[in-house]
Amino acid sequence: MAAATLLLVLTVVALGSGHGEAFDPNPLQDFCVADTTSKVRVNGVACKDPAAAVADDFFFAGVDKPGGGAASKWYGFSALTVQIPGLNTLGESHARVDVAPGGVFPPHYHPRAAETALVLEGSVYFGFVSSYPDNRLFAKVLRKGDVFAVPQGLVHFLYNNGTAPAAIYASLSSQNAGLVLLGDALFAGAIPDDLVAKSLLMDRHTVGSIRANFRRP
Ligand SMILES: *[C@@H]1O[C@H](CO)[C@@H](O)[C@H](O)[C@H]1NC(C)=O
Repeated sequence: MAAATLLLVLTVVALGSGHGEAFDPNPLQDFCVADTTSKVRVNGVACKDPAAAVADDFFFAGVDKPGGGAASKWYGFSALTVQIPGLNTLGESHARVDVAPGGVFPPHYHPRAAETALVLEGSVYFGFVSSYPDNRLFAKVLRKGDVFAVPQGLVHFLYNNGTAPAAIYASLSSQNAGLVLLGDALFAGAIPDDLVAKSLLMDRHTVGSIRANFRRP
């Protein structure tokens, strides 16, 4: 009986640890260049014929230039996704993020990825916070050429508190890292006001006025 129980426990632990791997699946081929015209739905994007792959499928130019990506006028940053079709299924993604003087990339996390950031231009105050209950802050002022790593799933931020434009090159350990902005999750989403107020130890009126700032055109 005891042996059977132990076996059951070990089986559950083994199954659980296999399930706990939160990384992208390993590729079964050298590459799978994304065929964005395909209607086939797979875990990633369908591959084009490997015989048709060319060097440009693994190439992206222009990360030395500022801007060019989707911009946030509230926060003062823009993010340019480095689109490399040949990275499909290989478990990574990249972006150039420009932050104007005074701009922030507000506290957020990537549920499926660790991140390393390389400063291309300027200087930024960059950091992350460990999980509950410690909430330890690990942050530094980074300058051009500096690299900072953020463990998977932890809340991090970037603040250009200098006077010159700043840019980083961010590498993420997932093809689809996901993005959760803490402010948006609480105030732009549909969690009821009274629940947000109780959760943040504040009154409903304050929640309402913060929410008004998050009502974006
Ligand atoms: C930016 O903020 C950090 C953290 O508070 C500080 O150490 C640094 O001196 C600030 N940089 C500027 C240019 O004010």
